[in-house]
Amino acid sequence: MSENPVPPAAAAAPAELPVLRIRDLRTHFFTGQGVVKAVDGVDLEVHKGEVLGIVGESGSGKSVTALSIMQLVASPPGRIVSGRIELDGLDMVKLDAAAMRRIRGKRISMIFQDPLASLNPVLRIGFQLGEVFRHHLGLEKRQAVTEAERMLRAMDIPSPATRVRNYPHQLSGGMRQRAMIAMALSCKPELLIADEPTTALDVTVQAQVLNLMKQVCREHRTALVLITHDMGVIANMCERVAVMYAGKVVEYTDVRTLFRRPGHPYAAGLLRSLPRLGGNARRLQSIEGQPPRLTRLPPGCAYAPRCPRAQPRCREEAPELVRLRPGQEVRCHFPLEGSLEGSLQGSPQGPLEGALEGSLHRPIPAALHAAPNAAPGAAR
Ligand SMILES: Nc1ncnc2c1ncn2[C@@H]1O[C@H](COP(=O)(O)OP(=O)(O)OP(=O)(O)O)[C@@H](O)[C@H]1O
Ligand code: SF4
Ligand SMILES: [Mg+2]
Repeated sequence: MSENPVPPAAAAAPAELPVLRIRDLRTHFFTGQGVVKAVDGVDLEVHKGEVLGIVGESGSGKSVTALSIMQLVASPPGRIVSGRIELDGLDMVKLDAAAMRRIRGKRISMIFQDPLASLNPVLRIGFQLGEVFRHHLGLEKRQAVTEAERMLRAMDIPSPATRVRNYPHQLSGGMRQRAMIAMALSCKPELLIADEPTTALDVTVQAQVLNLMKQVCREHRTALVLITHDMGVIANMCERVAVMYAGKVVEYTDVRTLFRRPGHPYAAGLLRSLPRLGGNARRLQSIEGQPPRLTRLPPGCAYAPRCPRAQPRCREEAPELVRLRPGQEVRCHFPLEGSLEGSLQGSPQGPLEGALEGSLHRPIPAALHAAPNAAPGAAR
């Protein structure tokens, strides 16, 4: 194994420049309880037409990474303290507010978990969707509503001519999220960030909305960053995946490799805690312990207190993200070398098959959602 830190995904990177390239991003919150290092040295790349999944326990820094890309981190108390976030080579960290407003909604869009929170309850759907066309493409009001109707139709929303005249509460949850996707994709952005876009929807609607999003992104070759707790969503939607822990990417690889040969003990722990179709429930293992407080990270590897492979070196020296195999980078002094199936003997299915063949909803167990590292009173 190479001991030298390498740029993420260097070995597997296609020839064309990535749409999004994040280098050593650090976003911290300066609170009364101390500095919360929510994102602390993240490197990521997403190429045209690629779907990158970001997965990790609650509080691992997924949303703050997304908000940093959008330059929407609550400030104060938050601030990007260092790093680069390049959109086609343009470092957005250096842009002023007006320049970012021109980029948001046009070149990069974001879909949030709760569409109701993102839509204005007193404005009609057609007006809100049309606003994007008016603001970014300079269309007249009537033309903008016609475009909005066309977008709703493209999202398989029935009776779009009626729906543009509806208010958000008159649409079902699935329709609202489709409307949000329509809005996010209306200017054909180069990059779409979806933060838990279907968590609030029931499983059937979730699958439909995700498939639609994937199809539309594929058609436009939009790069998609998909944040989720759900390993089934990762298995079904993504090509590459970044596993986050305590503000850092701890494993960065393609989905097949992650499910078959995870290198980081935390990634392997997440996969072992997945239910498998036809599997023996007694074999399910949960990851013991809690994520660390981000204001008081241990000196070495942040995962050491919970890691079954931890050795004295882990508690003294923080590991770098290094190449384990071509296209697989892992932040660990003693990564796993073998296949995960090998350690799950007796299971009729590997975790990938289980995640793919089961329902889309295979979340990280609820017990792991607690975020003890959240600063009291933090607006999250
Ligand atoms: N406004 C804020 N003030 C202080 N700390 C914050 C703020 N926003 C986020 N944080 C901290 O940043 C950390 C990362 O939060 P983030 O929202 O990115 O987690 P996440 O991985 O998206 O979790 P979840 O899966 O629950 O959405 C959290 O531990 C939280 O305490
Ligand atoms: S560096 Fe050590 S403690 Fe951290 S994940 Fe690897 S083996 Fe576990
Ligand atoms: Mg989040």
